[in-house]
Amino acid sequence: MTQTQFTPRVFSGIQPSGNLHLGNYLGALKRFVDMQEEDFETVYCIVDLHAITVWQDPEQLRQKTREVCAGFIASGLDPAKSILFNQSQVPEHAQLAWIFNCVARIGWMQRMTQFKDKAGKNAENASLGLFAYPSLMASDILVYHATHVPVGEDQKQHLELTRDIAAKFNHDYGVDFFPITEPVIGGAAPRVMSLRDGSKKMSSSDASDMSRINLNDDADAIAKKIRKAKTDPEALPSEAAGLEDRPEARNLVRIYSALSGLDVDGVLAEVGGKQFGAFKPMLADLAVEKLSPITTEMDRLLADPAEIDRIMSDGAKRAREITAPILRRTYEIVGMVGA
Ligand code: TYM
Repeated sequence: MTQTQFTPRVFSGIQPSGNLHLGNYLGALKRFVDMQEEDFETVYCIVDLHAITVWQDPEQLRQKTREVCAGFIASGLDPAKSILFNQSQVPEHAQLAWIFNCVARIGWMQRMTQFKDKAGKNAENASLGLFAYPSLMASDILVYHATHVPVGEDQKQHLELTRDIAAKFNHDYGVDFFPITEPVIGGAAPRVMSLRDGSKKMSSSDASDMSRINLNDDADAIAKKIRKAKTDPEALPSEAAGLEDRPEARNLVRIYSALSGLDVDGVLAEVGGKQFGAFKPMLADLAVEKLSPITTEMDRLLADPAEIDRIMSDGAKRAREITAPILRRTYEIVGMVGA
């Protein structure tokens, strides 16, 4: 079979289930902006259908959806260059997900570590949506024939599953219809860790707000969280190898590296030998310098929610120009009768 040439297209999404935090920013959002400036069509989605796999208060969900959209734009995504919208306004995501529910195997889903983590000990009581979630994620990507997906490291397994679903669909139906998508995981901070525990990732679901820097934290909150961040008593090393068994120190240096654009060696050339008492204020200043313009712009955008809704609705219309023909063709391949 000849290989189909797919248009280079980026898709990625963020859940509106909590505050946007530094992990989302460095692992995903900042890189969405970089890819917008490269030779790709870029499609970025606020995945509200994903969020309700665990309980969301409806009013909060509406608010958070607009907040994430404001965060996208404040970070540098341009609604004229990238397609920005919320998932539920493009029904083809859920429609293709149903087909994929019939392609993916239960055993594949049972291996998903994120399901095991999120469902916890009481997996019997988790929603069916939480279990099927990776199949919706595969649909988000493949309903655009997306070729590249920028994400943080925690999404790697879901992207491998997306490739498995595409390959099984193509194989079962004897077609070369869905691309085998490339995960784009990298940058200086593909896995930002909690400020309270260097072995846990920074997450909006952590009970402690001190564990993360939110994009809507003010300068005082950012400085306080960094000042109180867990560290060890040693001075910073002068070379990257010296961070190996020091997860908290490594995390703070990587955050500094990602925010400054210097690589880790470059950062350590500057700060090696310093105590945390001297390094933390440098990090806090840098974080405030990079993040406060985003916070200010988010606030400004959120003062006009009707404009945010207009941007998402416009993005959804443009998204459907891509998704509707791909879904129609999928239905034909599968054997659904329709005009
Ligand atoms: P979500 O909403 O949990 O996170 C959004 C993005 O932020 C990244 N991220 C991190 N990166 C580095 N360090 C961290 N501590 C950190 N925490 C979060 C995530 O890797 C992600 O890139 N299932 C996805 C949303 C989704 C999606 C998709 C992504 C749904 N459909 C299709 C890509 C393509 C999720 O829950 O991300």
